[in-house]
Amino acid sequence: MGENDTAVSKVALLLGILAMILTMAKAAAPLHNYTDALSKCILFYEGQRSGKLPPSQRMTWRKDSALLDGSDIKMDMVGGYYDAGDNVKFHFPMAFTTTMLAWSVIEFGNLMGSDVQHALEALRWGDDYFLKATKGVPNLVVGQVGDPYSDHGCWERPEDMDTLRTTYYLTAKKPGSELSSEIAAALAASSIAFKGIAPKYSHWLLNKAKQMFDFANKYRGSYNDSIGKAACPFYCDYNGYMDELVWGAAWLYKATKIPEYWNFVKANAQFVSYANDFGWDSKHAGVNILVSKWLMKDPSQASPFVPNADNFVCSVLPDSPTNSVSFSKGGLLFKDGPSNMQHVTAFSFLSIVYARYMEAAKKVVHCGNVTVRPSKLIKFAKSQVDYVLGSNPLRMSYMVGYGKKFPQKIHHRGSTLPSIIKHPKPIGCRGGDQYFKSPKPNPNILTGALVGGPAEDDSFQDSRYIVTQSEPTTYINAPFVGVLAYFKANPS
Ligand SMILES: *[C@@H]1O[C@H](CO)[C@@H](O)[C@H](O)[C@H]1NC(C)=O
Ligand SMILES: *[C@@H]1O[C@H](CO)[C@@H](O)[C@H](O)[C@H]1NC(C)=O
Ligand SMILES: *[C@@H]1O[C@H](CO)[C@@H](O)[C@H](O)[C@H]1NC(C)=O
Repeated sequence: MGENDTAVSKVALLLGILAMILTMAKAAAPLHNYTDALSKCILFYEGQRSGKLPPSQRMTWRKDSALLDGSDIKMDMVGGYYDAGDNVKFHFPMAFTTTMLAWSVIEFGNLMGSDVQHALEALRWGDDYFLKATKGVPNLVVGQVGDPYSDHGCWERPEDMDTLRTTYYLTAKKPGSELSSEIAAALAASSIAFKGIAPKYSHWLLNKAKQMFDFANKYRGSYNDSIGKAACPFYCDYNGYMDELVWGAAWLYKATKIPEYWNFVKANAQFVSYANDFGWDSKHAGVNILVSKWLMKDPSQASPFVPNADNFVCSVLPDSPTNSVSFSKGGLLFKDGPSNMQHVTAFSFLSIVYARYMEAAKKVVHCGNVTVRPSKLIKFAKSQVDYVLGSNPLRMSYMVGYGKKFPQKIHHRGSTLPSIIKHPKPIGCRGGDQYFKSPKPNPNILTGALVGGPAEDDSFQDSRYIVTQSEPTTYINAPFVGVLAYFKANPS
């Protein structure tokens, strides 16, 4: 070996080391800024606010709206959230959104940094409203505000609304067990989130939650029938109200440890299946995973909830032999129905939560011959989050305002029309059509909004006409708040 050869091999060695360092640095650098995404994910809720906006409002293109809500029945129903791209306050999905914001805070609030304050504000905006809606329980519970036919017939800013703001309500004779029990779940979960922070408020929420569960359980029936066509076909309770009753009882048990609630859960276990369903309509997978936390360590109590939760995991993971969802080439989870992104965020949330429970109980799951450790569930959730934030074939972020390329023409009234700051004159019912039809991007950025998302071939039409792809909803974002908090603290 000559002098030159030694020099060459030394250089090669150095280059090799350098390459290794670079690879390691690359592997260590997170793909996305989860801190930024979390802040935006929470900020989105300010864009959906209805009612009198507080001085702390950060999404300033939005202004006060719907200040007379409830006046038709002489109640104050000002506040709450518009559910999606329209201006109706549908309480069934709003309650689920509130439950999921609360669960996100309970599970991941300590990982949110300064954003936990904003998450609690978003949660409280929902809770304050539900305290109004449930003021008259057990005689009357408000189930929805806004006539959806009138609303959907106009393309109007919330601030200009002159559509019918009908208040729909439940009574003992016209009950709605799914809606009432989801509100119970939301208030019970919120009482846990506020426990150490605002004890009086937390206590108030919990009392209301109990009353709401009693109302839901005592007067059984579906809001499908009681509110009728103002609620269904929009948010029909397709799978019945028993899953919500069990869900409400499970949250009340978690909040109170009162045995009666747990007895209710156990006595109605047959109504909770292992189905890989979790969203504003179906609570199955959510119940199984929620209660698994306290059942996992005691095998004699585990059935059927822990095996159900295991089945859920096995039906979702891409490499599980019993997987029953599909994945796009780019790796995004797909389930039938509109707004696929709601499944992506909800399942990612449940995967991380279950992984943490498994970790604490030193448990693994067997999906046929595939062994699932907590890390596998986390990796799965991360693959979904990274896809959503831009690691996908189109290099497109599906969160508005995050990343370089994101949806510009979302199906959302307020975002599409000029802000009243720029255009103070009212824009009437059909006055918004020109903005809807415009090829231009929306003038107002609804920061943090997650849209329905791409088609199963990973393509995306950034079009206000393609509602299932371009519309944001409050219940897509809610579980993502928890998911992003987790990855903010555990970026790689
Ligand atoms: C992530 O975003 C936050 C603000 O949203 C910013 O302060 C921070 O510098 C960003 N981090 C990186 C690594 O770019
Ligand atoms: C609610 O209505 C939907 C649509 O008509 C129907 O499929 C579902 O079974 C109904 N749910 C209940 C609990 O009646
Ligand atoms: C699991 O079993 C299936 C067939 O039943 C087989 O194709 C697969 O390779 C096995 N996987 C592992 C990890 O052993």
